[in-house]
Amino acid sequence: MKRNIKEIVEAMTLEEKAGLCSGGDFWHTKEVKRLGIPKIMLSDGPHGLRKQEEEGDHLGVNESIEAVCFPAACATASSFDVELMEEMGKTLGNECQAEGVDILLGPAVNIKRSPLCGRNFEYMSEDPYLTGEMAAAYIKGVQSKHIGTSMKHFAANNQEYQRMVCSSEVDEQTLREIYFPAFEIAVKKAQPKTIMCSYNKINGEYASDNEWLLNKVLRDDWGFEGFVVTDWGAVNNRVQGLSAGLDLEMPSSGGVNDERIVDAVKKGTLDEKKLDQAVERILKTVFECADHRDKEAVFDRALDHEKAVDIETECAVLLENNGVLPLNENKKVAYIGGFAKNPRYQGGGSSHIHSSKESSALESAKNKNRNITYAKGFTEIEDVIDEKEVQLAVDIAKEADVAVVFAGLPEVIEGEGYDRKDMKLPECQNHLINEIIKVQPNTVVVLHNGSPVECPWANQVAAILELYLGGEGVGEACDRILWGEANPCGRLAETFPLKLEDNPSYLYFKGDGKKVKYQEGIFVGYRYYDTKKQQVRWPFGHGLSYTKFSYHNLRVSKKQMQDDDVINVFVDVKNIGQRTGKEVVQLYISDRTTSFGRPMKELKGFKKIELKPEEEKTLEFQITARDLSYFNEAMKDWYAASGTYGILIGHSSRDICLEEEILFETKRLLPMTIDGTTTLGELMNDPRTAPVLGQIMAQAFGASEENSNAGLESDDATARATMNAMPLKSLASFAAMPENVYENMLLTLQDVVKSK
Ligand code: GLC
Repeated sequence: MKRNIKEIVEAMTLEEKAGLCSGGDFWHTKEVKRLGIPKIMLSDGPHGLRKQEEEGDHLGVNESIEAVCFPAACATASSFDVELMEEMGKTLGNECQAEGVDILLGPAVNIKRSPLCGRNFEYMSEDPYLTGEMAAAYIKGVQSKHIGTSMKHFAANNQEYQRMVCSSEVDEQTLREIYFPAFEIAVKKAQPKTIMCSYNKINGEYASDNEWLLNKVLRDDWGFEGFVVTDWGAVNNRVQGLSAGLDLEMPSSGGVNDERIVDAVKKGTLDEKKLDQAVERILKTVFECADHRDKEAVFDRALDHEKAVDIETECAVLLENNGVLPLNENKKVAYIGGFAKNPRYQGGGSSHIHSSKESSALESAKNKNRNITYAKGFTEIEDVIDEKEVQLAVDIAKEADVAVVFAGLPEVIEGEGYDRKDMKLPECQNHLINEIIKVQPNTVVVLHNGSPVECPWANQVAAILELYLGGEGVGEACDRILWGEANPCGRLAETFPLKLEDNPSYLYFKGDGKKVKYQEGIFVGYRYYDTKKQQVRWPFGHGLSYTKFSYHNLRVSKKQMQDDDVINVFVDVKNIGQRTGKEVVQLYISDRTTSFGRPMKELKGFKKIELKPEEEKTLEFQITARDLSYFNEAMKDWYAASGTYGILIGHSSRDICLEEEILFETKRLLPMTIDGTTTLGELMNDPRTAPVLGQIMAQAFGASEENSNAGLESDDATARATMNAMPLKSLASFAAMPENVYENMLLTLQDVVKSK
């Protein structure tokens, strides 16, 4: 139904408009019956429907309807499969339609700065490009069902400690290159109906009050068309927030903030146009949702459970395998660990789903009459070694051909609202694994964790399968992979460092509760580990298969590139193994110009393909100047220097199979400030000033122009270096340059720069 929203806004009273900018209750917006404005319902997300019909809460404490728990983002990101993500989004969107939910609160896209963040299970990756592409796919899927999404938490919400008051202190280049791009990519590719602003401050100002963040960056720079909603209870100053671009406060604040808005408009401290703008944005989505409700939608929990199993099967990451996997039907296998029976498959807090059905590896194995024995091995909640349980586990491991230990992080260690203290598994689990490998060389470890764990026994076991928090279908998915019904095809969306201390944020993480300084800057994840050549347990992009792939014949559409060009990159991939499998081919860019402080490589493309044995396919990627660029704070824009860039094709960030180089030439010039500190080297290397440098030097030393650059081109390295680093103020004093000549020289150079 076509509506004239502007007319509706004009017909609303000031009180109605102010009221629309805050919730009617915990999960709904307000309705205005008089004008036919319906209320809409928002519910968590992101990996299932946490709809609450009774008492609402934002922590997963009160009941929610029975639904399906899909793999958490830590798992789905590991699929590197945008089609899969979009399909999951469609399924979730259908569930929302069937249950009368209008906006699903997800995807959660905060970058994994440290393995310690309690909500890492709900987030996707250490890499912003992967996160953005997967988030865009999720949003497209959900919104294809006329259900809105709420990409969260904008921005720099990378820890749980003091999340409602702590300020993330981050320089703009790091924000723009690391903590913003996932939001930017998804806004530009998928236009989420809403963005959820985060609880925290950014450089001293609350996200909910932050004009630069919500209007300049989100709307002016990226073209966001939806509305901004707070995280629940994240409002700081309602009037300032409204003016800064914060449209909807959730949950209801009982009319208190509505009155503040009314008063501010009446007093003239808030421009009513800002209020009207917010109301228009909210109404646009309210009517879109209300006008597309699908009464026919059915939430088939059994069907969606099977989809959850299928999705997790595509996400699990085979980290190590000496050939012990897949298990052979004729083998006697010992399943050890409580997670075999009661797998940890989701996190605590606002994303906690009331699962309709749970699958365990043990139950799946029994249903398929596999030759299995079981022992609990370790206690699941408290971290205490139960020697009796350990002995029972050792006994069955000894008797078996293979022992599979189901390990991982109990919910008490990681969750919304609190961060981890370290990167270790519970000691009782490490102890058990060490006891098992003493008696059973064919020991497999299966992990259920929301973020990286230290694996001191990694080189002593036969295989390691990372399930992450794989949703309610994790047990069946695990069975399919262990026994070879499915070929694992997940890849790590984050680096597993050998130990926590190796992580670049280690010295700064969580801060003092008031401020947390992102001192590591853009060097997050593999950007740090690979640039520093730091040994890691498993690199970003790593994952094994039951088959093998080869890459060859890398070629580019052209070797030279200008600002507005696109380069097409082609590579052939072949399955050289014995069974069908899926491969994730990754494309990284490496800046080999003289630009300072660039990571050794950055992911700028990935594709997942399925290949039969001997089958070969050609993959195509596209590279633009933005893919080569860094955010230049002086320009307040993205910029790539002229020079050579590497195109790296890899199976992981550390397993680069093919390389090509291209030459990029930009016509864009960096801003140049001319003053006494400008050096001769800068003047020499800049196309605007180089031509006049000779004249400047001649003026300075009264020499003839042709030999005036002598020092700069001297054969003597010291002389050359000294002259290159010579600031104009020192040149003037060495040359006993009169003040007026010096000032004139600066003015000449400033005019030259301005004129180009
Ligand atoms: C929570 C979470 C957010 C969630 C919201 C509603 O505090 O931070 O992700 O969507 O409140 O439950």
